[in-house]
Amino acid sequence: MKTGNNNEIRRICCIGAGYVGGPTMIVFADNCPHINFYVVDISKEKIDAWNNEDLSKLPVYEPGLDKLVRECRGKNLFFSSEIEKNIAKADMIFISVNTPTKKKGIGAGKASNLIYVEACARQVAKHAKNHTIVVEKSTLPVRTAEVIKKILGETQNSVTINSCKPTFDVLSNPEFLSEGSAVKDLNEPDRVLIGGESKEAIDILSEIYKNWVPEYKILHTNIWSSELAKLTANAFLAQRISSINSISALCEATGANIAEVSRAIGTDNRIGSKFLDSGPGFGGSCFKKDILNLVYLSKHFGLPEVANFWESVVEMNNWHQHRISRLIVQKLFGTISGKKILILGFAFKANTNDTRESAAIQICKDLLEEGAHLVIHDPIVNSNQIAIDLESNSIVNKNKKVIYKSDNYEGNWSYTDDINSEFVNTHAIVILTEWEDYKKIEWSNCSKLMKKPAWIFDSRLIIKPSEVLAADLNLWQIGYGT
Ligand code: UDX
Ligand code: ADP
Repeated sequence: MKTGNNNEIRRICCIGAGYVGGPTMIVFADNCPHINFYVVDISKEKIDAWNNEDLSKLPVYEPGLDKLVRECRGKNLFFSSEIEKNIAKADMIFISVNTPTKKKGIGAGKASNLIYVEACARQVAKHAKNHTIVVEKSTLPVRTAEVIKKILGETQNSVTINSCKPTFDVLSNPEFLSEGSAVKDLNEPDRVLIGGESKEAIDILSEIYKNWVPEYKILHTNIWSSELAKLTANAFLAQRISSINSISALCEATGANIAEVSRAIGTDNRIGSKFLDSGPGFGGSCFKKDILNLVYLSKHFGLPEVANFWESVVEMNNWHQHRISRLIVQKLFGTISGKKILILGFAFKANTNDTRESAAIQICKDLLEEGAHLVIHDPIVNSNQIAIDLESNSIVNKNKKVIYKSDNYEGNWSYTDDINSEFVNTHAIVILTEWEDYKKIEWSNCSKLMKKPAWIFDSRLIIKPSEVLAADLNLWQIGYGT
């Protein structure tokens, strides 16, 4: 065994330097100075960004991450494009590649596309030497470990007797980090879940975690339970958000107040207070994808009622996002064609530069379809990313201003990094991400410049109603009945 007689892991390779692989290995490296970590990726651009001297240009924005990169990079943490070499030298390999929802073919729209995982397993099978522990880190559909094992196993069988025959153990070790608090979540996890068949391999991975995680928090399960537990955790969290968002609509209709309802139910110990903040609908790369995976799995195993139950969580989220856009149009006298609307926040939540499945995407698309001119601001997300998400191209208009447009909708949008310069002639301001900056807006100043009657739409419940109303502005807040 390459890990030596004492099973010591000296070198770990992580395939995939994205939102999961990057922060996870950085925190591992910080906690395990005796192990060398090599994070590899097919995207040279991403590797270059991780190696950038300017730490504000790292490809993932996470509070506290730049400090750890400064401390570990070049010591026991390396970002590299040399995938094959680093696979060959590793004692343990983490697979942290993306698993987007399939767009075409069997399971389209629900099942995960495992093309990257499969490619990765084939690379490992081809280049690994001796015994290697392969750890599934990305969120994967249940029974993916079987696919990985099969691919690795095939290669094992095809290697000739005289060559150095690699052997593998496959473990599932799902990631529960939440973007924006990834460093804290990785340093102080509620639990670490390790699923697998080989007790020896599970113990080796547990030993690594024990460098900073108390032993009682490290749970061992069979491999399928580990994979299913990850999907279920995300489905339960997403379900809470759809539940509270559905009640927010009822609050607005009845005169109840969602913050009071959340507080009242959250004090029940059995329910708990977390994940009860009503917002514009859940986003992020995991929730929707994982629920759709559960739906696909349930249908596959002949459980349509289970599939329908979970699918309704996603349907409620979609409905909720459209509800907000419809409501904006209604409040602005049924038409927003040509009206300037300032969008505050594009990330799927605060403290991340990630926009995957952000509610802002659907809500902005809806408003653009109605012909609005949006001015979009986000403290971290840049205009290139927004252009990709809104499927639009840039043009320079007659005033030499960059405007973005698409054939898919009537309206257009522009980007701003200075919201104070954009209040003039704005009909409405829509808060979609709960960035701290937006809590500090001087509503009295902004009101003087806006087009009256002007509206503030607060989908995150972050502003003080008294300040907005005193500034002679109309206010809609999520879940607030009048
Ligand atoms: C989630 C899981 O929390 C994490 O354990 C898993 O590993 C990956 O998926 P993440 O997607 O980073 O993490 O974000 P999370 O904090 O869970 O928020 C997801 C979405 O729900 C965001 O759009 C957020 O704004 C929204 N949300 C969250 C609410 O609308 N209300 C809440 O009370 C909490
Ligand atoms: P996640 O949120 O799951 O981390 P990301 O998309 O942020 O997803 O990151 C996944 C990373 O995996 C990407 O940077 C992508 O380039 C990388 N990747 C995908 N397939 C491979 C592969 N076969 N070898 C190396 N890297 C890969």
